[in-house]
Amino acid sequence: MCGIIGYVGPRVARDVVVSGLRRMEYRGYDSAGVAVITDGALEVRKKAGKIGNLIAELDEAPLPDTEIGIGHTRWATHGGPTDANAHPHVSGNGRIALIHNGIIENFAALRLELETRGVALASQTDTEVAAQLLGVEVGAGADLADAMRTVCRRLEGAFTLVAIDATQPDRLVAARRNSPLVVGVGEGESFVASDVSAFIEFTRNAVELGQDQVVDVSRDGFTVTDFDGSPAVSHPFEVTWDLSAAEKAGYDWFMRKEIFEQPKAVADTLLGRYTTDGALKLDELHIPEAELRSIDKIIIVACGTAYYAGLVAKYAIEHWTRVACEVEIASEFRYRDPIITRSTLVVTISQSGETADTLMAIRHAREQHAKVIAICNTNGSTIPRESDAVLYTHAGPEIGVASTKGFLTQVAACYLLGLYLAQVRGTMFGDEIGRWMGELAATPPLIQQVLDGLDPIKQLAAQFIDKKSVLFLGRHVGYPVALEGALKLKEIAYLHAEGFPAGELKHGPIALVEHGTPIFVVVPPQGRDQLHDKVVSNIQEVRARGALTVVLAEEGDAEVEPYADVIFALPRVSTLLQPLVATIPLQFFACELATLKGYDVDQPRNLAKSVTVE
Ligand code: M6R
Repeated sequence: MCGIIGYVGPRVARDVVVSGLRRMEYRGYDSAGVAVITDGALEVRKKAGKIGNLIAELDEAPLPDTEIGIGHTRWATHGGPTDANAHPHVSGNGRIALIHNGIIENFAALRLELETRGVALASQTDTEVAAQLLGVEVGAGADLADAMRTVCRRLEGAFTLVAIDATQPDRLVAARRNSPLVVGVGEGESFVASDVSAFIEFTRNAVELGQDQVVDVSRDGFTVTDFDGSPAVSHPFEVTWDLSAAEKAGYDWFMRKEIFEQPKAVADTLLGRYTTDGALKLDELHIPEAELRSIDKIIIVACGTAYYAGLVAKYAIEHWTRVACEVEIASEFRYRDPIITRSTLVVTISQSGETADTLMAIRHAREQHAKVIAICNTNGSTIPRESDAVLYTHAGPEIGVASTKGFLTQVAACYLLGLYLAQVRGTMFGDEIGRWMGELAATPPLIQQVLDGLDPIKQLAAQFIDKKSVLFLGRHVGYPVALEGALKLKEIAYLHAEGFPAGELKHGPIALVEHGTPIFVVVPPQGRDQLHDKVVSNIQEVRARGALTVVLAEEGDAEVEPYADVIFALPRVSTLLQPLVATIPLQFFACELATLKGYDVDQPRNLAKSVTVE
């Protein structure tokens, strides 16, 4: 939430900052702003609304060419999305311009203190108190980095702060606690940003800052300390993708591009995990096998779409490992005092690696001495760093706010983890694991097959423009797919949608069904168990009450055909792997419908890509 960037170097800082903001706009789009230093004074432009408004403002009132600048794109927390509340905020003495991502929880007390001292605040934000405090410190003669450390020691909550001082046009200082910050290291130029996409155009050399660190940045390098001023360790890494991955490549939306990237994203996530001698290797999991054997419970913790990936994982992990697996919404987890012991394995799932609720759940679990494995897509993010081990998905950057390839790769990574645990714990024979790995490895072409056949979904979307509500049903792993289908519609098409376990329908929700109620149903493959037949019965039940049924079923499923108003054929896969193919038409349907309704698919209202506040 909120994207921040700072630059110092020979390029025109304003342009570097604005291009970085464009690339980070998915993090928040309530307002945007830029500050530069010229002739010993700050110049600021900021505007409510999307970055286009800021650019129009810059056209009207251009900023000078300077070698230092900071910029911010906002997801509003404290104070509405107005020009005055937009960042950067400037201290009353005109020395400091500051940008912030996070929430300063004790801002009210600090605000009162400042007002009592006669400092007039110009906005309703929590951020401005940090700008004003910093202004007071440097005004009293403190060095900028010392002042930042002093202020940070007083702040509670989550914050990444970046500040420039009008009297020092060759230096910026940043700090982080519970919110992301990476440094980009170029040749004779330096960057700080919320994520690497902001500076990927200029350098792939990045440095991840740790918790409670301050970084003092010049064009020639940077120094890192903790909040007390002691030298601190930061972690360099190289970004493995390039600028083209962070651009739309001819698609109208990042979301559509990301939907179509899924065959590769899943293939990359599975790549190199299964050796020629028939063993599953997860090299990055530096947890001794003996510890994995001693686990007696697994708890998966995540939010939103990642939580639904966790629900899929539960079916696979319990089936393959015979270890009890619970799935928890991260924001609920620590507040219910969950039972965690040294033998509990906590698995967190997060595309961004920055979700505050998930991060807090990790901290809580580790305080109880549980081992934590993170499934994450973002190198250099906080969640992997604070976990005992990480299993990276290799989806590449996901920029559309609605997660798509993030979900599929999370599901794929969960399968890998489940099979690996089964291997380590001896609950499956090697050849059985090999068969599953073979089936998994065969899914990318099947995902492509689904993508190649989406035209009927496109036509279907055109019939849904005036619908007021849509239901989604599924059983077993089809249930989380139903939840995910409903979430996609809510997020980007602003259409009321609910996902239910198909069997639960008769316990209440069926009362919602009337003539024409649209219901999507995920039908399990025909198989030995009765799952398929039960879902077919559920379809008949809603059809008998006038529902319009849109059925996703395995190709050649003649049993379900008579009960489907619309049928979409899915490639044949095992029930457990069906989410990898069944989710795609639902993602695409939401994208199409939102496009037809004229909504901004990549930047849906009220949302931000990574939720870095609790
Ligand atoms: O970055 P994370 O995977 O931790 O994000 C979790 C959720 O915020 C995220 O999946 C959210 O629900 C998406 N907007 C769903 O499309």
